[in-house]
Amino acid sequence: MVNNTIKNKFANIFGEDCESIFFAPGRINLIGEHTDYNGGFVFPCPITLGTYAAVSKRKDKIFKVYSMNFEDLGVLEFSLDNLEYNKKHDWANYLKGVIKFLLENNHKINYGLNIVIYGNLPNGAGLSSSASLEMLSAKILKDSFHLDFDNVQAALLGRTVENKYIGVNSGIMDQFAISLGQKDKAIMLDCNNLFFEYVPLNLINETIIIMNTNKRRELADSKYNERRAECDSALESLKTILNINSLCELTPEEFEKHKHVINDEIKIKRAKHAIYENERVKAAVKALKNNHIVTFGKLMNDSHNSLRDDYEVTGIELDTLVHTAWKQESVLGARMTGAGFGGCAIAIVKNDSVNSFIENVGKVYKDTIGYEASFYIASIGNGPIKL
Ligand code: GLA
Repeated sequence: MVNNTIKNKFANIFGEDCESIFFAPGRINLIGEHTDYNGGFVFPCPITLGTYAAVSKRKDKIFKVYSMNFEDLGVLEFSLDNLEYNKKHDWANYLKGVIKFLLENNHKINYGLNIVIYGNLPNGAGLSSSASLEMLSAKILKDSFHLDFDNVQAALLGRTVENKYIGVNSGIMDQFAISLGQKDKAIMLDCNNLFFEYVPLNLINETIIIMNTNKRRELADSKYNERRAECDSALESLKTILNINSLCELTPEEFEKHKHVINDEIKIKRAKHAIYENERVKAAVKALKNNHIVTFGKLMNDSHNSLRDDYEVTGIELDTLVHTAWKQESVLGARMTGAGFGGCAIAIVKNDSVNSFIENVGKVYKDTIGYEASFYIASIGNGPIKL
């Protein structure tokens, strides 16, 4: 259905049929939050919600791009000769950034494309709509111009765009989860060295529900960068007495022994979260492999508590969803997912109670916050593909 809608839109806008359709997923993170840029483990998986593109080649060096999610911006236009960040190009900057860094890495892109984009990921909801767009862009360019790079290189490229072009100092998790995504599998990734392992996510009696606060994430990027700077500063202090390159090289015991050198209560809390969260990922993956979903759920809950109290990235909206989820009999675990400051939470819920869970949590949320939350059933899909 999405295919036809986007095809028709393409024909409408460009007066010709598109040549190809591409898709890249969004992601949820099951556990391991704010550990990626601290050299720790993450455990995300791609979801079947994501971003679609209808594409055809042009004969000049111009890109004409249109997003069905930002119709009021109309057709945005830029040339291969000028790929500098331009505020007016809004969402298209992600695509421009990917093209720019591919060219800088000596890949040949010698003519433009017409593109129509449609995303069914809620925007700015912490499901990585931007990484989805970056990995979609990489896939389109790779296929259209027969470029030679692999999925890990695509993920690294996306992170470079995010850090150096967009200005968010994010880690590698989102792009990696999307670029290397495989159906019904989560990825345990060691962000220190990019070693990774696929872990089957065969929930038989349970469903993962995504709960969207629908809270706009204003200031989220600056808060994100602030947290990262706090961790970097804690690391610098620890380095004065320890030979380490990242916070997550420390065990909780080592951290407790040496944390006094950080000499700042807030920064100690930030570092504590990252280091304990890293341990939780290892324990959670072990639990999942042994089919101990109850243990897995408890670790998710612990993760949320730590993100609320030590990392301080939850807020009333996410806390209301998660705390209410915990009160439901049918829930095995719930936590915020992604960067926080609004956005989405996830809950693992028994299959037969999904509807009542959504109804109960939705009601409390509306009564407490004043507007509705949205709920989606997560299905774990594949990485970027040409359809
Ligand atoms: C965002 C970033 C990721 C990661 C998460 C928090 O999604 O893009 O790199 O840091 O926040 O775990």
